[in-house]
Amino acid sequence: MLPEWLRDYFESRPVATYSAFAPLRMALLWTLTLGLLIPVARAQLSTEDHLQDPGFWPTQPGASRSGYTGPEACRQCHAEKFATQAETAMRRTMFKAASSQPLHEHPKLTFEVGPYRYIIESDAQHSLYTVTDGKQKLFSPLLWAFGTPRIGQSYLFKRADGHFYEARVTYFARLKALGFTPARDLLHPKDVEQAMDRQVPPGEVKKCFSCHATAAVIGDQLDEQHLMPGVTCEACHGPGAKHVADMKALMKGDLSASQQDDIFDPASLMPNDYVDFCGACHNTWWDVKLTGVTGPSTTRSAPYRLVISKCWGKTGDPRLVCTSCHDPHLPLQTDEASYDHACLRCHNTVIGAALTKEHPGKACPVARKDCASCHMPKVYVKEMHDYFTDHRIRIARAGEPFPQ
Ligand code: HEC
Ligand code: HEC
Ligand code: HEC
Ligand code: HEC
Ligand code: HEC
Ligand code: HEC
Ligand code: HEC
Repeated sequence: MLPEWLRDYFESRPVATYSAFAPLRMALLWTLTLGLLIPVARAQLSTEDHLQDPGFWPTQPGASRSGYTGPEACRQCHAEKFATQAETAMRRTMFKAASSQPLHEHPKLTFEVGPYRYIIESDAQHSLYTVTDGKQKLFSPLLWAFGTPRIGQSYLFKRADGHFYEARVTYFARLKALGFTPARDLLHPKDVEQAMDRQVPPGEVKKCFSCHATAAVIGDQLDEQHLMPGVTCEACHGPGAKHVADMKALMKGDLSASQQDDIFDPASLMPNDYVDFCGACHNTWWDVKLTGVTGPSTTRSAPYRLVISKCWGKTGDPRLVCTSCHDPHLPLQTDEASYDHACLRCHNTVIGAALTKEHPGKACPVARKDCASCHMPKVYVKEMHDYFTDHRIRIARAGEPFPQ
């Protein structure tokens, strides 16, 4: 059995009081715990910390490009997952600007602030981004488009200096128009150049591509030539070439191939790690804490909000991980009733029923269905000009301040 003090450490600490020294303390605790030979669930970690651990983790740089096969190779044996995943927003979250749907639908987009006029003009092959203050005019062809856009689409391009720049305007689906790129609004730029864009430092460029593409970073280099736009199979399951070779050998009768632990299956993760897994791109509790973002903008980070729900408890529950409600191989379900089953795995339906391990949650005094519509309210995020679903499950009261 665990000594009292160590058990207290794991069971009684609310998530919100962990200090910034998680790695050090985790190392110490693991030493203690391994010494006692007792497996214990881990706390939430930052993505940086997870990436230090051995083994695969999403957004991790690849060792070599030849370790990846691309989703087409998975199709032969996992045809259904291949077909449905192709329709998800994650799969379609990045394009060459030349194939951007909103840019084709709006051959000329404009946006004006003070003396500055922003224009994106597109034909079948190109999109040209122009900014002018009436005297000076700068332009550049757009290179990459980020975002389906379910909510918005932002653009990266290169200047003659070879560096990446982010256009200061973004297309917003709800506005069907351009607006300032979130968190990049600049009402009084010093010149046209500053008005036009923001230089994205190389380290950040690699991060954008690691979350919006697959096999984007090999070693410590961005492999712009061979990356696969969008979140495809290997972004979540790790490089697949070995698995494909092993499974082909297995199908030819080489039974030793079936013993290979050759592809990452996230289903084996503990609840804490499982939400952090999706949090590698969607931001873990720690990722949000470390960036200092607060207020409604935090609803963009579902993992952060979910683990501060009362339902999550102190150490999490396998019935309340991201995949309890979302199949990452399917497009997002927008019918709220389709999430009820997840709530009712824990919540009773009879008021006053005894709380058990199987059903630790009380029954609702108000309704029997569409739980998420009231308890996971939509929150308006100003800079995104759109609503996000608050994954902090709660009794939401009209007019209450946003619960941090
Ligand atoms: C030649 C057929 C074949 C191809 C190609 C193939 N798989 Fe598999 N895959 C299998 C079989 C068979 C299993 C079940 C094997 C087992 O349970 O050990 C499997 C299992 C899996 C699992 C679950 C593993 C586990 O340990 O639970 C994942 C994840 C997976 N495949 C992903 C992929 C991805 C991603 C690709 C493309 C990069 C791919 N597969 C390509 C045949 C294939
Ligand atoms: C490699 C990065 C990455 C990982 C890992 C990842 N996501 Fe995503 N996800 C994204 C991006 C980027 C978007 C935004 C897509 C868009 O709208 O352009 C997104 C969007 C979504 C959406 C909403 C969009 C929709 O309509 O489908 C859901 C739901 C989602 N992710 C769930 C998950 C779950 C569950 C996991 C873990 C199993 C996960 N994601 C892991 C990058 C990732
Ligand atoms: C840590 C991973 C990560 C990084 C780094 C990242 N994104 Fe994202 N991005 C996401 C996820 C997850 C979403 C979906 C949730 C949301 O909208 O916030 C998203 C959403 C978006 C959207 C809105 C898409 C839509 O319609 O839902 C745009 C546009 C976007 N990102 C552009 C960028 C650009 C440009 C960069 C780099 C300058 C970048 N992102 C860096 C993970 C990331
Ligand atoms: C956004 C992350 C993500 C992407 C992208 C993704 N998967 Fe998965 N996959 C998962 C997770 C998470 C699980 C475990 C689901 C669970 O908890 O049962 C899984 C499970 C699987 C399994 C084993 C379980 C089963 O149902 O058979 C296979 C096979 C698989 N994925 C194949 C694929 C293939 C093929 C693709 C690309 C077409 C793909 N996945 C893309 C996250 C992802
Ligand atoms: C208890 C169910 C539940 C769980 C668990 C859950 N979600 Fe959701 N999620 C929803 C619902 C409901 C929606 C809103 C669907 C709609 O109507 O558009 C949603 C929407 C989303 C969206 C779309 C953007 C938005 O905010 O509307 C993303 C991205 C997302 N979830 C990611 C995640 C991730 C990552 C996890 C794990 C940390 C997760 N979800 C866990 C129920 C859940
Ligand atoms: C893993 C089990 C589990 C799941 C899944 C779950 N809950 Fe809970 N929920 C609980 C427990 C246990 C409590 C009581 C926590 C406490 O009082 O500390 C609770 C508390 C609540 C509360 C009261 C919160 C408050 O502020 O007092 C609401 C409302 C709620 N859950 C709604 C939902 C809804 C809606 C869903 C699905 C979207 C859901 N829960 C999914 C276990 C769960
Ligand atoms: C129409 C909106 C609505 C829907 C739909 C709804 N609820 Fe509620 N729920 C509420 C309100 C409002 C309260 C607070 C009641 C009060 O305190 O007077 C509540 C309270 C709760 C509580 C706290 C109960 C307690 O005694 O502390 C739980 C748990 C809960 N709901 C779960 C659910 C689940 C699970 C579902 C789906 C089966 C659901 N709710 C559907 C509005 C709703």
